[in-house]
Amino acid sequence: MAVHLIDHPLVHDALVMLRARDTQPDQFRQASRRISLMLVVEALRDLPSEAVKVQTPLYPPAADGRRIGCGVVVVPVLRAGLGMLDAVLELVPSARVGHIGLQRDEMTAVASQYYSKLPAQLEHSYVLMIDPMLATGGSAVAALDLLRRAGARRVRLVCIVAAPEGVALVERCHPDVDIYTPVVDHELNAQKYIVPGLGDFGDRLYGTL
Ligand code: PRP
Ligand code: URA
Repeated sequence: MAVHLIDHPLVHDALVMLRARDTQPDQFRQASRRISLMLVVEALRDLPSEAVKVQTPLYPPAADGRRIGCGVVVVPVLRAGLGMLDAVLELVPSARVGHIGLQRDEMTAVASQYYSKLPAQLEHSYVLMIDPMLATGGSAVAALDLLRRAGARRVRLVCIVAAPEGVALVERCHPDVDIYTPVVDHELNAQKYIVPGLGDFGDRLYGTL
């Protein structure tokens, strides 16, 4: 497994906005979309493409171009992953969307599944799983287990803040899944929140604090 640290000034600028305690949900949603656009561009850097000819208004000859050469499936982990979905669909309008609903127990931080709806033929698709927070890694591993059982073979995980514990768990359970993230923060606190992190992503995204 590889952890790809996306180190770009514009990524870090958006991350500061997400981390700041006083950022309100409207700005938080905007920064989430902004950072996701950049992370997803990197995560899809080696997306297979195929050569095409395109006729411009000035002809001949036709120009050489490239089009996406495989089906892309994006899977947001509800609810926080929805804050990254628009960015993926803007970049890959043809992507199919699967949903996985997972909720961490507030006391134990153990994730349980409450929803799943995935597109067919995942085995032939390039699957991008999006979940902004990789804390204990329990949610990511549960979602990846589900994707594997549904047939997914090529899966990448894009997150916005990761913790060493989460990275280690994904590495142990799904060594072939690459992780794309701007940062791996220091640690988890006693409540299993990432420190310094940015707080509860879903609550900040939807104003449910
Ligand atoms: C958050 C986050 C991840 C999970 C990460 O979701 O979006 O899915 O926690 O924590 P873990 O690595 O320790 O499993 P949460 O369960 O808070 O649900 P929400 O997205 O509905 O707010
Ligand atoms: N989920 C969040 O939203 N934030 C954390 O720090 C950990 C899990």
